[in-house]
Formats: sequence, C-alpha cells, structure tokens
Amino acid sequence: MRSLLLMSSFASTLAFKHHAAERTCRVFATRSRCHALSTARQIKALSTSTVEDKARDAQIFRRLLEEARSIEHSALLGPAVQSQILESNDLTDVVSEIIASRLARATTGIMLPRDKLKEACVRALKEDARPGADVMAIMSRDPAAISYLQCVMFFKGFHATQAQRVSANFWAKGSMSARHVALAIQNRVSELWAVDIHPAAELGGGLLMDHATGIVIGETARVGANCTILHSVTLGGTGKERGDRHPKIGDRVVLGAGATVLGNIHVGDGATVGSQAVVTKDVPEGMTVVGLNKLLDPNISPARQDTVKKRIETWQYEVNGYSI
Ligand SMILES: *[C@@H]1O[C@H](CO)[C@@H](O)[C@H](O)[C@H]1NC(C)=O
Repeated sequence: MRSLLLMSSFASTLAFKHHAAERTCRVFATRSRCHALSTARQIKALSTSTVEDKARDAQIFRRLLEEARSIEHSALLGPAVQSQILESNDLTDVVSEIIASRLARATTGIMLPRDKLKEACVRALKEDARPGADVMAIMSRDPAAISYLQCVMFFKGFHATQAQRVSANFWAKGSMSARHVALAIQNRVSELWAVDIHPAAELGGGLLMDHATGIVIGETARVGANCTILHSVTLGGTGKERGDRHPKIGDRVVLGAGATVLGNIHVGDGATVGSQAVVTKDVPEGMTVVGLNKLLDPNISPARQDTVKKRIETWQYEVNGYSI
C-alpha cells in the first residue's frame, strides 16, 4: 500500500517524463508495470498520425458527411446524425462525440460529465492514427459493413475500442487520479457493451472487434496491428502468475469466437485461433490453432494451406469498393 502511494505521488509529479517513469519503475513497481510503461510509449510512437493518416481521416470524414446528408431527413435518425456527424469538425470530433454521449448517459452507477469527457476524448484521440485505421478495418474486413456512418455510429466494437484508446491515454499519465478516470471508463464500457479491457492493455490500430460482446482483455495483454477479434474472446492470465501474465498477440491475427488465450504467451503474426480454442502455448507465425493447443500444420493439407492464405489476403484493405 505504501509503495503504491509513493508510486502514485511520484507518478503524478513526474508523469510522462521518460527517465522519471523509468526510475519510478525501478524503485517501486513490478516488472510488468515497467513493461507496460515502456511499451505504452512504443505504441504511442507507432500510432501517432502521419500526414497520410490525416489525409485518410479527412477522406473518411468527407464520406461520413455525404452519408449523413443522405439520411438527415429521416424522422428517426435525423437528430442523431445531425448532432453526431453533421455538427462535427473532423473524424476525432465525431468519435469523441459518440463515445462521450454514450459513456456519459449513465442511468446507474457513476456519472461522467459529458462535455468534459468529450474534451478529454478529443485530447486523447486527436493525434492518434488508430481510430481511422479501425474504421478502415471494419469497412474492409466486416462483410456486414455498408457505410462509414454505420461503422462509427452503430458498431459497439468500434465504440469499445475507441473508449479503450481514451482510457489507455489516461492510464499512461500515471497519476492516481488519471488512472482512476481510466478505470471508470473501463467500468462504463464493461457495463454498457460487455467488453472489459484493462486500460493498460495495448491495442494496435486496424482492430476489428466484431460483435464485441463478452470480450475480456487483461492488463498486460498486447494486440498488434490489423487484428480481428470475434465475440466472447478472452486474453487472460492462468491465475497462477502475477506481473506480466497476459498474451501477446502479433499483427494480423484472427481470434475466433469464444477463443480463450491464457498466460504470457505469444501468438505469432498472421496466426488464426479457431472458435472456442483454448490456447496456453505459443503459436508460431501464420499457424492455425484449434481445440486445446492443437496446431493445424498447413503443410499437411495443401487445400487447408490455401484457405489460410486466402483468408490472410482478404484481410488487406483493397476489398471491393471500400478502399478510399
Ligand atoms: C495494417 O494495415 C494497413 C492498411 O492496409 C497497412 O498499411 C499496414 O502496413 C498494416 N500493418 C501491419 C503491421 O500489418
């Protein structure tokens, strides 16, 4: 307890300063916190918007405006489309408005003040390349996606993902107060959408959380870029470890519905974890794992190898009509 207090007072005065954070780590924190701090910095560096990302986001925003105008006269949807899309200035503004309006509207539990929450969302997301990449991931990889508007307004996986990006931003500030805001956001998202992702977990860009119900991702988990996570997926601990105890998922990994991945293991780039699989061992790059740690060797069946390869190809962004 005392070390936690010491850590928090250290962290609040020295938040964001690289060397100070490192020192705080060495003196007071467990290895996992050091890991979380250093990789959070890496993710931040990797996810900072480039000129190309900003151009893509501007293009997404233009498409959103077009689509919104085509339905603004709907008696049922007009008002929502007006306040959430047409009155916004850019993609960050749209996403922040949507997240804040949903998280603030608590009927039970804690109330988060809507306007302050929206400002915090804008600050957290405005230089982040990942929300735009997430929109494109949905458009290219979810066959049910018919519009950009649907992605940002009606996909709760998108909402839960962006809310976690905001909570992660608060968590990374390190002070007790910021970390509790992060935990409050986690709590609201979990209440609203049954998606429980710790704010210290690192989620790469281009994430598609399809259906997004019953997803649990633990504190020291990491998910690389361009991954797809179906409903009821758990990235958890084994219950036997403390510290750095959650899975590290590579890039372009697909986690099928109900997949349970446990422990500080690595799932390699391009791997597929089958529905309902239970995985407690490393999965090599490009492999498919099903059942209990059962690797399907793509060399055994050329037909199967072909299927896996085709799936990897369809994760790319050039899917009909949706590349912008
Ligand atoms: C993720 O997808 C984007 C868009 O296709 C691509 O530019 C980027 O290189 C991909 N990153 C990884 C690590 O797969």
